[in-house]
Amino acid sequence: MTTTTTGGATFKGAVGSAHTRVEGRDKVTGAARYAGEIPFARLAHGWFVLSTVARGRVRSVEDGPVLGMPGVVAVLHHANAPRVDTDYVGLLGTAPDPTAAVFQHDRVPHAGWPVALVVADTSEQAREAAEALVVHYEQEPHDVTFAAEHPDAYPLDSHGPAVAEKGDLESELAASAVVVDAEYTTPEEHHNPMEPHAATARWDGGRLEVVDSNQGTMWVAGELANLFSLDPASVRVRSEHVGGGFGSKGVRAHQVAAVMAATVLRRPVRVVMTRRQMFSLAGYRSPTRQRLRLGADAGGRLRALEHRSLSLTSTVHEFIETAAGPARTMYDADAHHTANRVVRLDVPTPTWMRAPGEAPGSFALESAFDELAERCGLDPIELRARNEPALGPVSGLPFSGRNLLACFREGARRFGWADRDPRPGVRRDGRWLLGTGTAAASFPAGAAPSTAAVTAEADGTFTVRINAADIGTGARTALTLVAADALETAPERVRVRIGDSDFGPAFIAGGSMGTRSWAWAVTAAAEELLERLTPGAAIPPEGITVRSDTTEAVGALARKERHSFGAQFAEVAVDPATGEVRVRRMLGIFAAGRIVNPLTARGQFVGGMTWGISMALHEEAVRDHATGGHYGADLAGYHVAAHADVPSVEADWIEDPDPDDPVGIKGIGEIGIVGAAAAIANAVWHATGVRHRHLPIRPDRVL
Ligand code: MOS
Repeated sequence: MTTTTTGGATFKGAVGSAHTRVEGRDKVTGAARYAGEIPFARLAHGWFVLSTVARGRVRSVEDGPVLGMPGVVAVLHHANAPRVDTDYVGLLGTAPDPTAAVFQHDRVPHAGWPVALVVADTSEQAREAAEALVVHYEQEPHDVTFAAEHPDAYPLDSHGPAVAEKGDLESELAASAVVVDAEYTTPEEHHNPMEPHAATARWDGGRLEVVDSNQGTMWVAGELANLFSLDPASVRVRSEHVGGGFGSKGVRAHQVAAVMAATVLRRPVRVVMTRRQMFSLAGYRSPTRQRLRLGADAGGRLRALEHRSLSLTSTVHEFIETAAGPARTMYDADAHHTANRVVRLDVPTPTWMRAPGEAPGSFALESAFDELAERCGLDPIELRARNEPALGPVSGLPFSGRNLLACFREGARRFGWADRDPRPGVRRDGRWLLGTGTAAASFPAGAAPSTAAVTAEADGTFTVRINAADIGTGARTALTLVAADALETAPERVRVRIGDSDFGPAFIAGGSMGTRSWAWAVTAAAEELLERLTPGAAIPPEGITVRSDTTEAVGALARKERHSFGAQFAEVAVDPATGEVRVRRMLGIFAAGRIVNPLTARGQFVGGMTWGISMALHEEAVRDHATGGHYGADLAGYHVAAHADVPSVEADWIEDPDPDDPVGIKGIGEIGIVGAAAAIANAVWHATGVRHRHLPIRPDRVL
């Protein structure tokens, strides 16, 4: 906290002190309206009909009988829906996922593909009619089996080359005193944000207005303008409150279908996904198969590191889970080979899910490191200390900051690591075997250009307008604190308005880059405004507004290896009679830039670590090879950690301000989950003496 004196008044900095959410009261009282609840006159409701076959063609949609059902006003499908343009590259540099460009052809590329939208006066009527709609298919054989050796797998670049190789791997492995060679797998996992995807679209005086639940309204508005060949200025997307996204809330079938229906019907149309529909329409994390080969000298120094990952994508769109990515930042070796490959199957397209690449990749890499420590007879933290790289192992770039070992030191002290007996399977608490484990975490720290407007109001308060998205992270509150500090005023005098594409370009809530990118733009505008204000001078009724654009400043960032780091610790109890694994406590220590709001930041870290428990022990979407769909595509069939599964989870951080950021922020959205599952798996080994290389660590796998 900084204290300065301006104009005789004492100004205490808000950044770094705990603040409850500025919209918290609205959220808990229900005053905050989410996309699926905002009322509109003459609102119609759309309900998706999804394919029941995994591959083939829609032969016909028997819409006639359904159109005679109560309240039904339209049935959209491939034979009658408006055409959209999918031949463009979007704001995030990718072509649109055809899954979002609904009803453009009769092909069915996976189970759960949207084949129709039934629109009715009420959502109950729409649902009843959707369930009654008969669709005839021409079925073709499908392949949804994610096998170890798939002949059609191919390397796919994504934010970096698919394959990075230096040194002679085989000869370094042959010359190594100790070798770990193991395969790890992670299952298909789903985001399941608490608030399902929902959008309402309407035409208003020649403008398309969409109220949505998303991670960036500029992104969604831009895609809708492209898809429907509209002037971007004639599309407005709003998304004020969002009940979780985790990577799944981009441009999806519901917004596009709602716009189509609103266009055809000339009335507002709302489309809400059901929880079950989200399993095929909202994206997910691909399963991974990862092979790790580590070779070290007797002292634990790496001579060889190979990390090869295979994930899957759909037949209609390319997406790759870059699980071999973290090895490029974490550890160096004389021979360093990493490869991300993908195979196309008859499944929905996967997407970003919290810490894409890093979450499953760190499970394999950090588990293998634990195995290497065991074989070398070294403490796992000491092994990591001996392999700290001076430069980015693949990039060769200097680190903008790398406080990994400081995280381990602080974590070890607080966790009581020094007293740990390294032998596995020797601690008991009644029927429970006890163990502890640790793992490293990292996640890229980036910034992207954004714009902001800050207004000094005539009443002495300030209004910030920025097209940020608060998907539950506390970003809006963080920006309030950042603006208050830059304006040298109290947070209570600042109101931050977000989630409106009319506020101009700003980055999405994604890549752990949202708050950092927006804070940069808010700071730039606020500082300039403060300079312009003359103390004591009256402010005109319309206020004084300053706009910022950080395109140049962000573009001028020097090329460095920019990451956040962390150390995860877990203690588990394993019942060898039932196979039950219980996490007893977790501790995460992070070096993740300046922490703007300790209250919500802790929530972010603990949320990620809790998800790590879920990933380690519970989550697994199981595909039925016969139908190509899921078993139990809901929260009864897809297990997530419940309250009783989550013990004391503690998160804290060390001083680690980013020297190149005006506020010192790095971004904390994703690193909390990274390494968490490995720390738990390593603790299960320490408890039982058995390595678990396949997630989740279910009771039947423990037995
Ligand atoms: Mo995140 S997976 O970039 O929303």
